[in-house]
Amino acid sequence: MTTLALNNVRPYGEDVKHLRIDVTEGRIAAIADEPFGPADADAVIDGGGNVLLPGLVDMHVHLREPGREDTETIATGSDAAAKGGFTAVFTMANTNPVIDQPFLAEAVWEKGQAYGKCDVYPVGSITQGLRGEQLTEIGLMARSGVRMFSDDGRCVNDPQLMRRAIEYAKAHDVVLAQHAEDHRLTAGAAAHEGEQAERLGLRGWPRVAEESIVARDAIMTRDYGGRYHLCHASTEGTVELLRFAKAQGINVTAEVTPHHLMLTDEKLATYDGVFRVNPPLREARDAEALKQALLDGTVDAVATDHAPHGSEDKCVEFENAKPGMLGLETSLAVVHRVFVEPGLADWRFVAKVMSERPAEIMRLEDQGRPIEVGEPANLVLVDTQSPWTARGAEMASKASNTPYEGIEFTARVVGTWLRGTQTFGLKD
Ligand code: DOR
Ligand code: ZN
Repeated sequence: MTTLALNNVRPYGEDVKHLRIDVTEGRIAAIADEPFGPADADAVIDGGGNVLLPGLVDMHVHLREPGREDTETIATGSDAAAKGGFTAVFTMANTNPVIDQPFLAEAVWEKGQAYGKCDVYPVGSITQGLRGEQLTEIGLMARSGVRMFSDDGRCVNDPQLMRRAIEYAKAHDVVLAQHAEDHRLTAGAAAHEGEQAERLGLRGWPRVAEESIVARDAIMTRDYGGRYHLCHASTEGTVELLRFAKAQGINVTAEVTPHHLMLTDEKLATYDGVFRVNPPLREARDAEALKQALLDGTVDAVATDHAPHGSEDKCVEFENAKPGMLGLETSLAVVHRVFVEPGLADWRFVAKVMSERPAEIMRLEDQGRPIEVGEPANLVLVDTQSPWTARGAEMASKASNTPYEGIEFTARVVGTWLRGTQTFGLKD
């Protein structure tokens, strides 16, 4: 048996504690008020009084393998995840080929496990080839372990197909995650429909394109059941609809991205393609509504929508830039900036929205667990005393399309452990 002592840490930012981790079993073996010494453990790490949280869980990333390994792979995406404090991520199905069959999903999971830095859960597509025409074999993929289905990147627009998908997802007890965008209302759109898009001469993506799908899907979920999850909620109206649905007892959950919380379409002023994302950056009142919704639980979780793209697809005219931004390595810092720094929330809240709730929604039994004896040692250590500056070129991700280039943050991940094994950071 090998053991690790992680001394001098503050679980949830509270009192200083010392942990002994049974690395062989991957669990927390003891928590004490006095530090463990070399006699008690095979390796001793000084946590420096930093904040200790359960390992983060991201319900929405794009790791681009198979098909675009030039921009990210399961390995480089796992490196970025570990550096960002994540111990589990769900990678979307919009790869090439699309993850629409069990063997493809199994290959993603196995590659992640072989690399070993993060549990990489495959998301299966709802429709074959993301074409929005024929459903995939949701049952077969569910049997091979797929927990979430989504055509993310595309919306399941066809109401009849969506109804059937909801029914199948219910029958197989899996999560159906919708990218809510009525494509007929967003054809050719590159930016949020509003004053900024008008000023810049960009075609607008109206709020109603998202909200009309959210409303329809909530009612379908009411009538046909199942576990419905909304990807990247981005508008004030969506928040109102979620509040209505939850008040009715409809089984919907929702996520918000760090960029929709921190950034607005004011960023588009320089036509820099790095700020193109889908759904688009919106207005201050949307960001404010999303913040309140996360605080009061109307929105359940933060998910990054980590979407790596190469410079050939980003450093081009705004309308030609591919939508998407990196998120894994900056999300904790952004959530700290938006909620913890101004005193709107504490570290318990961060653990809830970035680890516990996503793990609950996805029914991951070994993630998002309390920091207690007997629990899996999936942990992240966060330093708030050494400011750092986000630089795309320094990221572990293969791509560098961060919208936070040059921004100084105060929260930094300094160590990540997956089942007791260190995947990033501090060494003894
Ligand atoms: O901005 C986005 N990028 N939104 C999506 O829904 C898809 C994603 C991607 O795959 O690049
Ligand atoms: Zn996405």
